[in-house]
Amino acid sequence: MNNLHRFLRRMRALVLGLMPLLLARFVTGAEAPPALKDVFKDCFPIGTAANRSMVMGGAGFRRSADQNAADIATLKFHFNQIVAENDMKWQLIHPREGGNGYEFGPADALVDFGLGNGMQVAGHTLVWHSQTPNWVFAGTNPPPPDATNPPPALAAGTNGPATNRPGRGGFGPGFGRYTGPRASREELLQRMSNHIHTVVGRYKGRVKVWDVVNEALADGQGTNVLRTSLWSEIIGPDFIASAFRFAHAADPDAILRYNDYGLEGAAKRKRLMTLIRELQAQQVPVHAIGSQAHVNVSTTFEAMDQALTEIATLGLPIHITELDVNGAQGGQGGFGANVADNAATTQGGLVADADKRLADAYAGIFRAFVKHRDTVKLITFWGVNDAVSWRAQGRPLLFDGENQPKSAFQAVITTVGTRTAP
Ligand code: XIL
Repeated sequence: MNNLHRFLRRMRALVLGLMPLLLARFVTGAEAPPALKDVFKDCFPIGTAANRSMVMGGAGFRRSADQNAADIATLKFHFNQIVAENDMKWQLIHPREGGNGYEFGPADALVDFGLGNGMQVAGHTLVWHSQTPNWVFAGTNPPPPDATNPPPALAAGTNGPATNRPGRGGFGPGFGRYTGPRASREELLQRMSNHIHTVVGRYKGRVKVWDVVNEALADGQGTNVLRTSLWSEIIGPDFIASAFRFAHAADPDAILRYNDYGLEGAAKRKRLMTLIRELQAQQVPVHAIGSQAHVNVSTTFEAMDQALTEIATLGLPIHITELDVNGAQGGQGGFGANVADNAATTQGGLVADADKRLADAYAGIFRAFVKHRDTVKLITFWGVNDAVSWRAQGRPLLFDGENQPKSAFQAVITTVGTRTAP
């Protein structure tokens, strides 16, 4: 009898002990995963880039209307922050010169969608060398003989035609590869000022954070801090300070970010530190560092931890602005995210054991984010799922094309448990 009682007590204890696990399995099983935004509510908002069809409905790029509806459901369920993947870029929001040259429809829809669904909205991006129309740089001054702005070599198939994508012309003539006679410094500053005042002014109080300058830093191992672009050649390196000052004047309450990729690498990060310290010394209103974090499955906790530790010494909040983790062979060589090189980084098929490597990489990366949660104030993924990703072939996101959470999703949510670690 005693033995039987002992046995029953043990069984009861076992069942009670397993109860939370069983319940968790029921609640968080494949049918109903927890929402990312809830899991990380004590750490940071969790956002995503969204394309036009997600905020306007209908069929989308590579997506039927049904698939798009499922993408929207995932977006609403998991994310509490949103940014336009393309629709606030100069090319799309201000394709023609002058006050009548703006196309606000899709950007307005994104802001309404975000706010209507209780999300914070970020603006991307005001000044960039890419996806900027010719007219912005055009004028009557012949390009200087020493102009060093050759069109970048375009890998075949970089861009797909789509409602939400710029298409083949996106990085071709007309969009940042302009080689004709140029505007003067004053003309270009004036255009920049008009653009920033109009766009930031329109969304004042609704878009609370802006990528003011995107990707101004040079790549590679050379000594240049800044990339050579039409902005830097026509205005000079102070185009960056001017952009921030215009944005601050347009909305003094907005958080203004400097945004770039590759900050997980030492050379690029060093340039960032140089640039931002210089801007700070000149009292330029830079309020946050946007680290795009287009990384790959070879990225470790240590690499991300070191990057965040160093960037944090600037004394500014860090926003992870475009997170994805590339699993394609072609993307394992570095942390580059030059749009012109994008096709190459998704070539070669997936690495061996891609799913597990993705989960491991995401686990390490998020453990670093959680560790640095006092500095890391926002995490934004660059897309809702693999099917709509700009690096679709690298399967870089937490949800597959059917919006099912991948093993990387499970790996990410478990890292929240490390937040109480010393
Ligand atoms: C990408 C978009 O995802 C693509 O749809 C588009 O064709 C090219 O631009 N850095 C940035 C983003 O700041 O704007 C880029 O987005 C990815 C790299």
